[in-house]
Amino acid sequence: MKAKILVTGGCGFIGSHTVVELMEQGYEVIIVDNLSNSSIEVLDGIKGIVGKAPEFYNVDCLDYVSMEKLFTEHPDIQGIIHFAASKAVGESVEKPLLYYRNNIGSLVNLLELMAEHHVPNIVFSSSCTVYGQPDAEHLPVDETAPVKKALSPYGNTKQINEEIICDQAHANEELRAIILRYFNPIGAHPSALIGELPNGVPQNLLPFVTQTAAGLRKQLKIFGNDYNTPDGTCIRDYIYVVDLAKAHVKAIERMLAKDTKDHVEVFNLGTGKGVSVLELVNTFMAVTGVNIPYEIVSRREGDIEQVWAKPDKANTVLGWKADTPLSEVLASAWKWEKKVRHIN
Ligand code: WQD
Repeated sequence: MKAKILVTGGCGFIGSHTVVELMEQGYEVIIVDNLSNSSIEVLDGIKGIVGKAPEFYNVDCLDYVSMEKLFTEHPDIQGIIHFAASKAVGESVEKPLLYYRNNIGSLVNLLELMAEHHVPNIVFSSSCTVYGQPDAEHLPVDETAPVKKALSPYGNTKQINEEIICDQAHANEELRAIILRYFNPIGAHPSALIGELPNGVPQNLLPFVTQTAAGLRKQLKIFGNDYNTPDGTCIRDYIYVVDLAKAHVKAIERMLAKDTKDHVEVFNLGTGKGVSVLELVNTFMAVTGVNIPYEIVSRREGDIEQVWAKPDKANTVLGWKADTPLSEVLASAWKWEKKVRHIN
C-alpha cells in the first residue's frame, strides 16, 4: 500500500475519476464529501472499477470540528487533493456569498489543519478561467500568461484560493502546493461506472449534447457563430477526465518524492488543441451516429471567444500528456449517458 491521500470532493466528477486512478496505483484514499452536488452511489461505481470502496466521510469541509476529528483519526495522511467546491458560474453570480463561504472557507480550514497536523502536500483544483480571454500573443496559454480580473464570483474564488495558497506557503515553510489549472474536462470512465451527472439543465456543452442525444432535451443551442474563429463558434480545449485524473496522481507522486522546485507550482492541464463548438458537435454525431438537432442563437454573456492550453510544462515536468483521441472521449460520454438513461 502506498501513501494515504485525502480527497475532498471525491464523489464529484473529476474527484471520483481521480480516486479511481489513485487506488489503481495502490494509494489508500479517504474521501470527504458532503454530497451537495454528488451522490453516494458514486462509491459503488468506484468499487466496481477498482474492486474496493475508498473510506468515506460524509463531512462538509466547512465543518472544522469534524475535519479536525478526521485529521486526528488519520495522522498518516501524506497529501490532500482538494476538489470540494461550488462550481456553477451562473449560480455564483446569484449567490456570491455562498461561493465565497464555501470555496474560501473550506480551503482556509484545510490549510489550518494541514499546518496543525503537519500534512505538507496539497494539490489544488483551479481553472483556466483565471486567464480570462488571453491576448493573441498568449494563445495557446501557458502558465506565465497574466491572470485577469475574474468575470464571476466563482472565478474570483479560484483566484483568491490560489493567492491564499501562495501566502500560506510563504508563511509555512513546510507547505508544498501544486495548483492545477484545468481547461474543459469532459467524458466518463470507459467502464461507464462513473461519469458526469449535472443537476438540472446542463450549462456545459457536452452534457447538454449527450442529454439531447438521449432525448431529454429537444435541441442544442449554439451560443453564437459570429466569433472571430474559423467557423465562427467559440474554441476550447476539451480534456478527457481520465487523462486529467492521471495528472493528479503525477502531482502527488512529485510531491511525495520531494521533487517540487518551488513551494507552489502551477500547471496548465489541457490537450494543447483548440476545438470549436461546431467541431465538437459534428465529431459527436460522427462517432455515435446520433443526430443532434441544433440552432444557432445569440452569444452567451461572459463567454470567452477562444482559449486553449500550452501544456508543455505539465508534459515535461510532470511527465504527463492528455492524449486520448476526442472521438474516444465523446464515445465514453455517450456510453455513460446511455447507461444513466437506460438506453441500449
Ligand atoms: C463551452 C462552449 C459555449 C452550452 C467552463 C466551465 C466554467 C469554467 C471555465 C471551471 C462555449 C458553448 C455551451 C450550450 C453552447 N471552468 N455552449 N451551448 O464556458 O468554457 O466554461 O470552463 O472552472 O466553470 O463551465 O464551458 O461547456 O459551458 O461551454 O453553445 O448549451 O460551448 O458558448 O463556447 P466554458 P461550457
